[in-house]
Amino acid sequence: MNFWYGKHIVIGLGGGIAAYKTLELIRTLRTAGARITPVPTPAALHFVTPLSLQALCGERVRDALFLPEAPDGMDHIQLARQADLVIVAPATADLLARMAQGLADDLLTTLLLARRGPVVVAPAMNPAMWEHPATRRNVTTLQEDGVQFIGPEAGAMACGDEGIGRMAAPVTILEAARRALTPKTLTGRRLLITAGPTREAMDPVRFISNHSSGKMGWEIALAALRAGAEVELVHGPVTLPAPMGACCHAVDSARAMLDAVVPLWLDTTDRPGCDVAILTAAVADFRPTEQRQNKIKKSSGIQESTLELTLNPDILAMLSAWSGVATRSGRQRIVVGFAAETDAPLIHGREKLARKGCDLMAINDVSAAGSGFGTDTNAVTLIGRDGRTEPWPLLPKEQVAERLIQTITNLIHHPPRYGCS
Ligand code: PMT
Repeated sequence: MNFWYGKHIVIGLGGGIAAYKTLELIRTLRTAGARITPVPTPAALHFVTPLSLQALCGERVRDALFLPEAPDGMDHIQLARQADLVIVAPATADLLARMAQGLADDLLTTLLLARRGPVVVAPAMNPAMWEHPATRRNVTTLQEDGVQFIGPEAGAMACGDEGIGRMAAPVTILEAARRALTPKTLTGRRLLITAGPTREAMDPVRFISNHSSGKMGWEIALAALRAGAEVELVHGPVTLPAPMGACCHAVDSARAMLDAVVPLWLDTTDRPGCDVAILTAAVADFRPTEQRQNKIKKSSGIQESTLELTLNPDILAMLSAWSGVATRSGRQRIVVGFAAETDAPLIHGREKLARKGCDLMAINDVSAAGSGFGTDTNAVTLIGRDGRTEPWPLLPKEQVAERLIQTITNLIHHPPRYGCS
């Protein structure tokens, strides 16, 4: 089920030029199945028209505090109570000031005062206004009141100034909104996730690699971040934008990936090792034995050539072996592997789980349609160390990630069970 389907979102718009970007946010949420009630301030209607809001939302624009046709004449109370989430975008300096003081002089500020559930605010203003001590005080007050901020971001402003003040991109606001609605079941936990391919160099211009896009690991990182976890994302060469809030470590080869994960898994003087490791990276099993300093030349008359390979270290096996070593956190740790198979997936997946010693193995048949490398969907069978098997249907990788994070959460809170029914 799409996360946004059936959710009721009130979108409050302040009077700023960034309001045009809010139309894209509304469109994305509507396409995802959310119900949107637009509540512009009078100033916002200088920048977007009621007609464009109504056309995009498919719902009457609420812009008046006193409406005889509203239920009991109290639209602000109904909206404040019914909405799953209130997003204010753009939030101008004036709107933040009125919210911080608890003023209720239009429908939006009145419903915000009556609101008890989550509120996400995306400020947008000139950098000088954002930096002004009055705005800083108002932001602090609102944060203390539980309002969640996203942005503003640095960049060029509509007025020509440069600095911090641009409203966050709609996709960023959407992610912040989703996090505001996700229960924080992994707060205080630190997850190590690997993703993407590795590249094993032959010479300065050639390498051995595979088709991993990083999507599976990225979705797991996002699901963990939404659940409140801290995420260390160690990844090979990919073209995906960094997940908001993740600590990213870019590497190229298997050995570089090992060097990056070891200090995250073992205790350091600064902090204990991670609580959970989920290794989705498609690590090259072998690397060219010799890495030439200069480009390998094609000699005339030679029809065949042989490349000698050396086994790479098995990162999953090493982390699993160390997972029993007590860390300063004193917590039981969990290691999850992913097995990419093309034949007899269950047999090979079980053998890999036993050989590598992890707690869970997510087996995917990478030769099946819609499953494995580069796709947006995946068909996974989860197996536990106790032999229990849980086949999942073909799902968007986002939902595979959510299920896996849910399974791990259950395992953390009920340690004897492996999360497979
Ligand atoms: O990135 P995407 O395009 O979204 O594709 C996702 C995926 C298909 C890459 C992913 O779902 C997946 O299956 N990842 C594991 C790929 C893999 O390397 O499988 P394997 O069966 O060769 O390895 C088993 C496990 O051992 C994996 O967790 C792997 O990270 C780990 N491994 C492998 C070799 C090695 N030297 N060190 C390891 O840690």
